[in-house]
Amino acid sequence: MARIGICMGSSCFARGNAENLGIVRDYVARNCPSVVVSLTGTLCRERCGSGPNITIDGCEYHGVTPDSILELLRRELHAGENP
Ligand code: FES
Repeated sequence: MARIGICMGSSCFARGNAENLGIVRDYVARNCPSVVVSLTGTLCRERCGSGPNITIDGCEYHGVTPDSILELLRRELHAGENP
């Protein structure tokens, strides 16, 4: 199971995670039929300056914009799969 946490604190939310949330939901629904994904909104972790912040399976990713999140999801949710 992949665990994705999206910071819903006001800074991360305003700087991209509002849009990232929809992108993640859509990506998972379309591309991860065999992967169980737990998508959770998280509270501010006081790392606002490096946001928008997202965690995937405990790894933190910073500065995740709507332009860069698809590459991150492809890389992390399909690691180990054949191209
Ligand atoms: S709002 Fe995301 S770390 Fe503060």
